[in-house]
Amino acid sequence: MNILETKALSHDFGGLQVLVDVNLKIKEGERHAIIGPNGAGKTTLFNVITGTYKPGEGTVLFKNKEITGFPPHKLVRLGMGRSFQITSTFTWLTAFQNIRMGILSKRGIRFNFFNFLDKMDDVTRETDEVLKRINLDGERDIPASMLSYGKSRSLEISMALATDPDLVMLDEPTAGMSVDETHNAVELIRKLTEGKTMVIIEHDMDVVFSLADRITVLHLGGILASGHPDEIKENQAVKDAYLGEMEV
Ligand SMILES: Nc1ncnc2c1ncn2[C@@H]1O[C@H](COP(=O)(O)OP(=O)(O)O)[C@@H](O)[C@H]1O
Ligand SMILES: [Mg+2]
Repeated sequence: MNILETKALSHDFGGLQVLVDVNLKIKEGERHAIIGPNGAGKTTLFNVITGTYKPGEGTVLFKNKEITGFPPHKLVRLGMGRSFQITSTFTWLTAFQNIRMGILSKRGIRFNFFNFLDKMDDVTRETDEVLKRINLDGERDIPASMLSYGKSRSLEISMALATDPDLVMLDEPTAGMSVDETHNAVELIRKLTEGKTMVIIEHDMDVVFSLADRITVLHLGGILASGHPDEIKENQAVKDAYLGEMEV
């Protein structure tokens, strides 16, 4: 089953055509990488899928239900989580408070006054469990702004996953990381996305080829190729447009 599908998705910014007839299919349970040169439209594709922008044309299906233009908080409740290309933790909040925010947004504000405190105990327990899994229990009460770059990106990846989504979308989670930080992030992503569906935009080909079951190449706003990593490596159009310039 396709957990996510876009049909004839197009989008423009004031006449600049950024997405052109994108038909993306993400199978349930796969780790799917989206690659392509800078400016290809990868982040815009995420923004259109996750409700930051309403697409100019086309539809988005999630779990076979049309979700075109649904706002982000509604998508979180349906089981979609995402991270952003630019670090987007709440820097003035602690690691604990950031993760708790993710957990609360999945549960929605459905508490009533009388069971509020009981529910908060649950949420606190769950938040501490997540912090432990991501090795941030030692930094629980430190503001996100004080974390190292690698840890603050780990926190961000974990916020996208704290809501326990069925589908998680990560936009360049290793951008700006050192080799060691990248290695740790890949292991964290592998661990946290076990049994889930993941779509990852990634520029580091080592990360792409070590994580992805399938790859889609976006070029000039359209899908140039989509398939198994070996097929993509051998694809002549992909080599010409993109991979040829890179050592893979
Ligand atoms: N909010 C926006 N307004 C105008 N142009 C935008 C906006 N967001 C992205 N673009 C343009 O759309 C194109 C694709 O950008 P983006 O989706 O960020 O590419 P990628 O993530 O593949 O590098 C670029 O030319 C970029 O300048
Ligand atoms: Mg981008």
